[in-house]
Amino acid sequence: MASTDSSTNKISIGLLGFGTVGSNVYNLIKDQGLEIAQATGASIEIKKILVRDIAVPRQDAPPEIFTDNFEDILDDPDISIVIELIGGLEPAFDYITSSLENGKAVVTANKQLLSQRGFHLFKLAREKNTQIKFEASVAGAIPVIKVLRESMVAADLTSVYGIVNGTTNYILSEMSRTGAKYRDALANAQEWGYAESDPTEDITGKDAAAKMAILASIAFHTAVSLDDVACIGIEHVSSTDISYARNLDLTIKLLGVAKLYGNKINVRVYPALIKKDHPLATVSGAYNAVFLKGNSIDEIMLSGPGAGGIETASAVVSDLVSIIVRREPGAHENVAAWREMEFYPDDEVISKFYLRLEVKDEPGVLATIAKVFGDHNVSVESVIQKDSGAHAELVMVFHAVREASFRAALEKIAELSEVKSQPWPIRVEGNGNEQQ
Ligand SMILES: NC(=O)c1ccc[n+]([C@@H]2O[C@H](COP(=O)([O-])OP(=O)(O)OC[C@H]3O[C@@H](n4cnc5c(N)ncnc54)[C@H](OP(=O)(O)O)[C@@H]3O)[C@@H](O)[C@H]2O)c1
Repeated sequence: MASTDSSTNKISIGLLGFGTVGSNVYNLIKDQGLEIAQATGASIEIKKILVRDIAVPRQDAPPEIFTDNFEDILDDPDISIVIELIGGLEPAFDYITSSLENGKAVVTANKQLLSQRGFHLFKLAREKNTQIKFEASVAGAIPVIKVLRESMVAADLTSVYGIVNGTTNYILSEMSRTGAKYRDALANAQEWGYAESDPTEDITGKDAAAKMAILASIAFHTAVSLDDVACIGIEHVSSTDISYARNLDLTIKLLGVAKLYGNKINVRVYPALIKKDHPLATVSGAYNAVFLKGNSIDEIMLSGPGAGGIETASAVVSDLVSIIVRREPGAHENVAAWREMEFYPDDEVISKFYLRLEVKDEPGVLATIAKVFGDHNVSVESVIQKDSGAHAELVMVFHAVREASFRAALEKIAELSEVKSQPWPIRVEGNGNEQQ
């Protein structure tokens, strides 16, 4: 194999943040320098690292390359690429904007920022004839952005869906595997480092919604932001539901779904019951998996570690290599929302549902509830009735129904004096009944 002379081609980089991912990026570039040089024909040097406090001792890198002043990186003419790994909206947005305005290319893993202000940054990168790359912002080490932007150009995609949050997948997997209650599974995830001490972003579905906004934008070339993605988290998933689902040959996952309905798009995140033999059912623990469905490709599944310092760092370095080997930004180097699409209303989506209700244990209750559903054109596919001590329990699965009708029926059901629990329905996916 011909070796590349990288001695004359040096690329200097400014790294913003030296936390979990930042420190792994530094070490990966150091350890994989030869491989990167062979792939790019350049030697890469992390010239400066922005931290909040330079007095904190850090073992991995020499102290002289740390700075607490972003201008040291921005104003350094040698630095042509900035890697943003501080997270959050500000000052990350300001730092990325200034870097792009100065003609520097940017790599970021910041899904919250991209899902809220990404299109401003993509537009700026185009105007400045530079690049912004963000593979690590979705699904950790899985190269889904690159596949969507390059390999799927002619795939005529119709949907992108899957498991894009490792924390909730770990919690739901533990609940399914051990029968643990939600609170205990969350505490276990925190103990093992799979959930943050404040897990709100993950368990409410907001982290997955940010990733789905990014994936939908790339897949369908249209501007989808976090506010466009309705999300339901996993806080109301109970171990009782998981146990009933098991008897129905179903398992529970938090799914992100971006789907075309004609020329409209719908993007959502919600807990869903899927058949145990569906490939997503076997994706357990903190793993992620994304299905890409298109008229030219049928279906492709990508799966792997969805987070982790070294895994995410590997995706960051892959972006770095892409930037270096392609100095001329082409059409798919920067995201363009060249297609204007309307959103398909959630109410119009056709879904199957599972519902468990605690009801008064007395004659006629089932008939009363069935009548309310019937009045709203919601048809029951199966019912299991169980005595659960003080009350009876009804476990119902419904035929595919327009969501607005189902919600209207549920509102009436919740008002019935016979119903003793708040109804928390769960969608049932992949039975071939959903609207395509
Ligand atoms: N960890 C993962 O598995 C993962 C996976 C995918 C994507 N990401 C994304 O990667 C990014 C970094 O995540 P991380 O896990 O590495 O976070 P982290 O461990 O909290 O590291 C962030 C670092 O940035 C520093 N920082 C924050 N604000 C700063 C500022 N204004 N100036 C200088 N330094 C600043 C923090 O310093 P202090 O310690 O002083 O606050 C911290 O060292 C985030 O956007 C995250 O969403 C992470």
